[in-house]
Amino acid sequence: MNVLVTGGAGYIGSHTCLELLECGYGVIVIDNLCNSNPKSLQRVEQLTGKPITFYEGDVRDEALLRKIFTSHDIGCVIHFAGLKAVGESVAKPWEYYDNNLNSTLTLTKVMRDVGMKNIIFSSSATVYTADNEMPLRETSRTGNCTNPYGWTKYMTEQILSGLAHSDPEWSIVLLRYFNPIGAHASGLIGEDPRGTPNNLMPYITQVAVGRRDHLSVFGNDYDTHDGTGVRDYIHVVDLAKGHVAAVEYAAKTKGCEVFNLGTGVGYSVLDMVKSFEEANGVAVPYEITARRPGDIATCYADPAKSAEILGWKAEKAMVDMCRDSWKWQSQNPNGFGE
Ligand code: NAD
Ligand code: UFG
Repeated sequence: MNVLVTGGAGYIGSHTCLELLECGYGVIVIDNLCNSNPKSLQRVEQLTGKPITFYEGDVRDEALLRKIFTSHDIGCVIHFAGLKAVGESVAKPWEYYDNNLNSTLTLTKVMRDVGMKNIIFSSSATVYTADNEMPLRETSRTGNCTNPYGWTKYMTEQILSGLAHSDPEWSIVLLRYFNPIGAHASGLIGEDPRGTPNNLMPYITQVAVGRRDHLSVFGNDYDTHDGTGVRDYIHVVDLAKGHVAAVEYAAKTKGCEVFNLGTGVGYSVLDMVKSFEEANGVAVPYEITARRPGDIATCYADPAKSAEILGWKAEKAMVDMCRDSWKWQSQNPNGFGE
């Protein structure tokens, strides 16, 4: 079966292309490269020895999508393409709503027209309200998002579940990711953020490699075991395997189902610094600074539903996440840029 991967040149997309190829799927990618480098796909081809068909273009380009669907026999779509920086979404709400919502609307319009109605969507733990009890279950409260990025994920879930309600032929899987980190064990593909990283692990690796002076730890007065924020970090290769499980599930079911992709275990910022230093024998100098607006104290998943229904479970440990993040960063100090 061929899988169309939108945003496949990106961080999670490239790791998922690799797992799909390893499992025998054909892979077609559409990506406009607004936040990625096509070298990621070349490296996936190098690692797997298998080709990827790549279309450089925008998912909002209806004519291009029609061409792709008529040129290939596609059995499932994994829709990663989107803008993902929380802070930037506050500054550029129109761009976020336009990109993230219109890409999904155009894609599903073309899918409906050609009669191919299996789609996996990249949602996020950010759709859960801040007042939930931990761990977060798929039935926990959603909405009340604090930024346009979060709203685009929430609204896309509504759009897709509405489609499934209206037409029983759709098979839709909404995957709510927790905090993906790490890289392929080869160190050949990984996360390559443009500019200053917003997220913790790429910031830690850039400090460790000497590109930045120190890490700012955003607050140590949260109600957590050491006062710093607790998150559910998941290895990107485990996350990628969760998509393969979702493709298999979508092929044999109809309707719309939502799954958490997390480990169920929370680590604080200082736990992360310590784990990284111990795993790699490098120092990560840090300073405690003010809380980052919009952050919550604690966020971790209940991954039981994914285990029960998808038959998927995160397998890699924190030491793997830290070692693989560092291998990628130390082998590619400027990401794909050199
Ligand atoms: P990424 O930026 O590395 O990948 C997204 C890819 O989509 C990029 O290659 C980008 O060039 C492409 N793209 C964006 N808009 C496009 C468009 N209109 N047409 C074609 N290509 C387009 O991000 P990622 O970390 O791999 O995230 C993938 C998806 O998972 C995103 O939807 C993101 O919101 C979601 N997600 C990510 C995280 C995370 O922490 N990384 C957490 C939850 C959800
Ligand atoms: N942190 C720091 N210093 C930094 C960066 C982060 O102390 O330089 C802290 C944050 O305060 C937080 C933790 O590290 O306590 C994790 O922060 P990230 O920015 O790495 O991740 P978030 O949990 O804030 O958000 C991420 C994605 C969102 C997604 C969410 C849930 O950025 O898009 O996970 O999936 F919605």
